[in-house]
Amino acid sequence: MRTIVITGGTDGMGAALARHFLARGDRVVVIGRNRAKFEALVAGVTRGTPSAASRAEFIAADLSLVAESRRVVDHLTAHHERIDALVLAASFIRQRRHVTPEGHEASWALFFLGKYVFVTGLAARLRAAGHPVVVNTAVPGARPDAIDFDDPGMTDAFTFTRSNAQQRRANELLGLLATRDNPALTYVTWGPAWLVKSGFAGDVGLGMRTAATVFGTLFGRRPEKAVAPVIDLIDHPAPGRAALRGAKRLALGGARDDKDAVRLAAVVENSL
Ligand SMILES: NC(=O)c1ccc[n+]([C@@H]2O[C@H](COP(=O)([O-])OP(=O)(O)OC[C@H]3O[C@@H](n4cnc5c(N)ncnc54)[C@H](OP(=O)(O)O)[C@@H]3O)[C@@H](O)[C@H]2O)c1
Repeated sequence: MRTIVITGGTDGMGAALARHFLARGDRVVVIGRNRAKFEALVAGVTRGTPSAASRAEFIAADLSLVAESRRVVDHLTAHHERIDALVLAASFIRQRRHVTPEGHEASWALFFLGKYVFVTGLAARLRAAGHPVVVNTAVPGARPDAIDFDDPGMTDAFTFTRSNAQQRRANELLGLLATRDNPALTYVTWGPAWLVKSGFAGDVGLGMRTAATVFGTLFGRRPEKAVAPVIDLIDHPAPGRAALRGAKRLALGGARDDKDAVRLAAVVENSL
């Protein structure tokens, strides 16, 4: 039986993936903050697939805290011999700069530092799977110079656009580090081809909230439909790094990637 770990698996696309893999007979570990959403999800699957409840596990955690990410990684390491797929889909959109009690800028912590802790901390359990897959829902294609290596917390010039581009670029470079460490790993940065009707968790202004609600309702795709390419990636691993929008593969590999990946690892290790 495969073990699939999904951060942000209580809502939106993460929940759609959790439902799919539970219905298919896999063991699914969901990480989120809201146990009630997890229980409703499992109850829904269990109606058609009675064994789902015994294969579903929930770990409550606030992944904007590095200590919480570490705690979850330790728990997973202690309780699971191997992890076949790790889906990184926890999301909380902040338009304004916010600092966590640990002193990290909150979007950088949730969208990158926590993911770094998961991918590096679970390396041994992923290696044990033989053909492991990491799907990181960071939309590929950010500018190569998007990372502020001297100030990743963006103390001075935080904007939502800069912060978003920075974490997306960093998550692409994380794939370089992870696949170098384990050539058998399939590491994909993935974003949906089109807006998805999801929980849209976040602390955003009225303008962004209204736009997301209106556009999501009118044009948003259903999460179940949007995640079809992710299911395919997990079912058919192809070792190495890849970047996809929907099912479309994008080019990867810029001239400065190697140097930037090493620099990023040094900056992160120094800050954790
Ligand atoms: N929706 C789109 O159109 C779209 C477009 C491009 C990229 N994406 C990316 O796709 C991924 C999934 O997006 P989505 O829209 O499907 O998500 P969503 O419906 O907003 O759900 C967010 C998930 O993240 C969890 N979460 C939020 N803050 C958390 C925290 N501090 N600690 C732990 N878990 C936390 C939530 O769990 P709880 O409620 O249990 O806390 C929930 O399960 C994200 O990475 C997003 O950036 C989405």
